[in-house]
Amino acid sequence: TMRGAIFDMDGVIVDTAKYHYLAWHSLAERLGFEFTEADNERLKGVSRVESLKILLEIGGVETSEAERLRMAKEKNKEYVEYISRLEPSEILPGAKKYLQQLRQQGVKIALGSASKNAAFILDRLGIAELFDAVIDGTKVTKAKPDPEVFLEASAALGLAPTDCVVFEDAAAGVEAGKAAGCSVIGIGSPEVLFAADRVIRGLDELVG
Ligand code: G6P
Ligand code: MG
Repeated sequence: TMRGAIFDMDGVIVDTAKYHYLAWHSLAERLGFEFTEADNERLKGVSRVESLKILLEIGGVETSEAERLRMAKEKNKEYVEYISRLEPSEILPGAKKYLQQLRQQGVKIALGSASKNAAFILDRLGIAELFDAVIDGTKVTKAKPDPEVFLEASAALGLAPTDCVVFEDAAAGVEAGKAAGCSVIGIGSPEVLFAADRVIRGLDELVG
């Protein structure tokens, strides 16, 4: 049985994936290449610097580390402009209800996200108090598919990873959850999330 639930944020709790994509897309445009939504799938769940490396590889662009830092900053500046205007209506269907339902059942809840903007987003959406622990991109050093974020999250809840269920929309995140020893529920398409124990379309399916 599930004693702890660990939620990815982008694409699971809130529909921010489109803003990440828009900001990466403008960067690619400035660099002079096309960046598609199919390309973007490879960036989901991956940290900012790792995402940038994949993007530059797709564009065949060679850069110095200093230039990459500047590009990552630029991308984040545009992204932060979008998320400063986030509305609670952009919380994904069923997400808030499901968190409340789990709390009522006594299940401990953690966030396990690669984002350095996580605290800002949870505040902005007014759902920060629904989490017992927040492990985000400011606290981990290894990007998904490394299991670090989920190991830290289960430890923060005082639970073994095997007592926790991870909710993920990204292939890298599903892989990270399985590597941590958690059960994983994939949210999205079974073709992308085949490594999950179960795949659903959205958290609204779990609200009872
Ligand atoms: C999540 C998203 C990624 C994003 C990463 C870092 O995992 O799925 O698309 O690159 O977080 O987010 P940040 O807000 O720190 O740039
Ligand atoms: Mg995600």
